[in-house]
Amino acid sequence: MRAIVLGSAAGGGYPQWNCRCATCRLAYSGDPRVRPGTQCSLAVTADGERWLVLNASPDIRQQILATPALHPREGLRDSPIGAVLLTNGDVDAIAGLLTLRESQPFALFGGNAVMDSLAAQPVFQVLNDAYVARSVVEAGTPFAALPGLTVATYSVPGKIPLWLEGDEAELDLMNEGGQTIGVEVRGDDGHVIQFVPGCAAVTPRLAERLAGADIVFFDGTLWSDHELVTAGVGHKTGRRMGHISMSGPDGSMAALAHVPVRRKVYVHINNTNPALVSGSPERKAVEDAGWDVGFDGMEVVLT
Ligand code: MLT
Ligand code: MN
Ligand code: ZN
Repeated sequence: MRAIVLGSAAGGGYPQWNCRCATCRLAYSGDPRVRPGTQCSLAVTADGERWLVLNASPDIRQQILATPALHPREGLRDSPIGAVLLTNGDVDAIAGLLTLRESQPFALFGGNAVMDSLAAQPVFQVLNDAYVARSVVEAGTPFAALPGLTVATYSVPGKIPLWLEGDEAELDLMNEGGQTIGVEVRGDDGHVIQFVPGCAAVTPRLAERLAGADIVFFDGTLWSDHELVTAGVGHKTGRRMGHISMSGPDGSMAALAHVPVRRKVYVHINNTNPALVSGSPERKAVEDAGWDVGFDGMEVVLT
């Protein structure tokens, strides 16, 4: 199997179009310690011919252009993208579907919640049913997403999409009913990739699920829970946003420290996260804990 990080940043991207936080300013000034990143997506292939794209980022057109493996190859109309799977209904995971119009066949997979919300929004009919086959995937039931790639999804703690939030008091921030899913991609060669770009907490069940993977791409939205407040760009905590932090006793570095995984890579990294800055104390802590900070174009070959 082979995987390419198409986008490593959280919703808004890095730098965000309207942000002058300390980290965004570094990116806008071209500081060599940081790399700009597009909104989170991962492409996976078994044969190098047909690719499964996990999440349709608003930046998907730019991501395809930057990735020769995803360029059209033959005939007049063509795409190596054979399937797209959605892990949640947030804008950064679904808006790229609107770019994938133009009568191109591919398979579209997602959990109940996200597929229902797509069906309820007529603008997504630009993905013509005659070409795009939509399937609702059941958590826990493996299916062949593409030749050589067997996918199984599982619910992880999270909340409904930001744009669907209603009464704040009633918001369930740790819902495990399928609003947010993790994706296990198993190659015919036995290798396993786990993709969990959004996650509110690492439960024992999730840790068990990730154990034994060759590589885990995991929610790296925030370094610390109060990051947006401290940076002065928002009032929400990570907890309120449905994202676990990297650091702290409840953070993902601690929670996954003893889970046997060959390689751990942070993706869906918010533009405020100081771990984006190479040489920063936070980046050092991440690296010392055995994690990589994902970046656009990062390629992984599992053999
Ligand atoms: C999130 O992961 O919390 C979302 O990307 C928020 C958003 O849609 O901007
Ligand atoms: Mn997101
Ligand atoms: Zn910023």
